Amino acid sequence: MSGRSLARASVLLAAVVVACSSGTAGEGTPGELASVSFGTPFLWGSASAGFQVEKDLPPTDWGAWVKTPGKIKNGDDPNKGGADALAHVDEDVALLVASGQNAYRFSIEWARLYPTRAAFDADQVDPAAVAAYDKLFAALRSAKITPLVTMQHFALPAYLSDPSRSTEPQGWERPETVALFGTWCGRVAARWGGEVDWWATINEPLVNPIAGYIQGSFPPGLLLDVDRALAAGRAEARAHAKCFDAIKAGDTKDVDGDGKASMVGIVHNTPAIEPEDPAYPDDVAAATRVRYVNNQWILNAIVRGDWDDDFDGNYDGPKDRRADPDLVGRSDYLGINYYSALVASVNGIQIPKVNAGIRQDHLPTDRPKTDFYWDIHPKGFRVVLDEARVYGLPVVITENGIADSNDRNRGRFLLEHLYELGRAKADGLDVRGYFYWSLLDNFEWASGFCPRFGLHSVDRVTGARVARPSVQIYAKVARTGVVTKDDIAAQPPYGAPAYCD
Ligand code: FCB
Repeated sequence: MSGRSLARASVLLAAVVVACSSGTAGEGTPGELASVSFGTPFLWGSASAGFQVEKDLPPTDWGAWVKTPGKIKNGDDPNKGGADALAHVDEDVALLVASGQNAYRFSIEWARLYPTRAAFDADQVDPAAVAAYDKLFAALRSAKITPLVTMQHFALPAYLSDPSRSTEPQGWERPETVALFGTWCGRVAARWGGEVDWWATINEPLVNPIAGYIQGSFPPGLLLDVDRALAAGRAEARAHAKCFDAIKAGDTKDVDGDGKASMVGIVHNTPAIEPEDPAYPDDVAAATRVRYVNNQWILNAIVRGDWDDDFDGNYDGPKDRRADPDLVGRSDYLGINYYSALVASVNGIQIPKVNAGIRQDHLPTDRPKTDFYWDIHPKGFRVVLDEARVYGLPVVITENGIADSNDRNRGRFLLEHLYELGRAKADGLDVRGYFYWSLLDNFEWASGFCPRFGLHSVDRVTGARVARPSVQIYAKVARTGVVTKDDIAAQPPYGAPAYCD
């Protein structure tokens, strides 16, 4: 449930706008560890996604959505003033090196390799697309940067998903998509398995159903259609498992020399889910339901094989299954995205079946806010890390970051979140890496270019990248692997954000 997915939900759910707090020292408890350390090897990187940084992607559902009037804030278009990352490969890899990073997460775009269904069916890849990604891999390899490759990050080829025909099944809902996705993953793994040891199948599989079918800010743009949302979510769980198996079959090469074949996981968005009124049992129960559906349902399926077809929290339905052999054990690691808190309540507009209203922005808390109206809540990071711990798998933080155009709060945000991650590691969580979102300012889906998450700004006219001062804070942690309480104390208190309107 990302901000984009929830921005409109918050309007629907009658947002209570609270004044932002400023001058807050941040969350903290006296007597905590003086420092945390991450050791080696550890992946220190940044994350990105093709649709958000590439230019001139062949037709996708998101491409059509961008052209649909009124869907993107300020009418922004990733082809006009975007980062154009495939044309700046050497420059961007140099930015990673200059900031001490040793890893980079990006997506390979299905529509770029196979612009038409005929090309996909005939397995005729676009040679220019192959050359572009080859160039990126070569640059990363020579800079000793470890790639973490996402197979699908929100955008799907237009031949699988067409928002102009939203009354018919689209994208993950279509019966053929699961098998086709398996084929896609197998081909990518076979082609680039010699470059990649870390694969992510699907980015945020629950965000697509919520944003696309419940609150309408993603294609296909439906409102409160919970049946179709759940159908898409089910298909994504099955598609993940197919992709996992296809990668295992297609990529048997050990790139990093650790003697192990590739690590394959999913990238899961897990907000810290809280009841609007903790003293009100109905809100507490609503938060429990939302936490189950959003944070736990898919992990139960792809780690334990426990299939709760109707999302009711029990395994007693006619289609429910325990330890389903088609799903169990399909995760070598958990990719965790963490940004903020999410509030659930029984007030306002309810998501049918889940019977809860949700919101992530303009929360009525006294926590400092980001430019995206999200709470800054590092203690919530520890909460979701503890939720992830029960699955007993290695964890990679595949996204964490802040929209902060003035770079006023990013340094403290980074250090406070890394401190929580380090504490969880000290307490036994097997954490393998951290990817800041994002290397560059980019196209933030329905919010266009408005929120600035980048460690580097991008000039909308020239494409020039400029490092923000907080890059040095991240670079120091990446180089030393240590965060101290003194580092945090040296940061200015959180200040008022530059709200993005
Ligand atoms: C996540 C998405 C990513 C980016 C960040 C801010 O939900 O995976 O593409 O938009 O939010």
